[in-house]
Amino acid sequence: MKRLLVILSAFSLASCAMMNINSHCMKAAQRKMLDTRKLQQAGQWDESLAMAERMRSSVSKSVASAPNQKSAAGMLVDTRPLLAAWENGPFAELKTALQKRDASRSTAAFASLRQQCVNCHTVLGKPQAQVSEIP
Ligand code: HEC
Repeated sequence: MKRLLVILSAFSLASCAMMNINSHCMKAAQRKMLDTRKLQQAGQWDESLAMAERMRSSVSKSVASAPNQKSAAGMLVDTRPLLAAWENGPFAELKTALQKRDASRSTAAFASLRQQCVNCHTVLGKPQAQVSEIP
């Protein structure tokens, strides 16, 4: 049993480096996005900032594992500029809002961050990759 757990956790680590932008890392990013929001709403600003950084890491690992993706039109797209736009735009704004402990600015930043997640899926023609609403 112990050995099985070790093998399973090794597998889930390895799975962030597979050929496709993998759904495992994206799902983790989504969980961390919702956790960041929960912590922010609970007024745990430092923890929320740390969780935001973990979310960024999941998104960027999953993009790094397979930067070239087929677009909706069937062309190969380098998704790294999309990732950079996400990081330098709404993600940076969210970090600033959390650092300033500004609740309304955070709410706005979460909404635009989520929208930029959706934008990347739209460019790639992956409407099935549903992103949760921000509560
Ligand atoms: C640079 C492009 C890009 C960005 C930015 C991006 N994604 Fe994704 N996402 C993808 C791709 C590509 C897939 C499809 C993975 C697959 O199934 O092959 C995907 C799939 C998903 C899925 C579906 C996973 C599954 O199989 O159920 C979820 C959920 C998701 N992303 C959430 C997010 C969230 C949340 C963010 C922002 C915090 C985000 N994504 C940002 C490219 C992106």
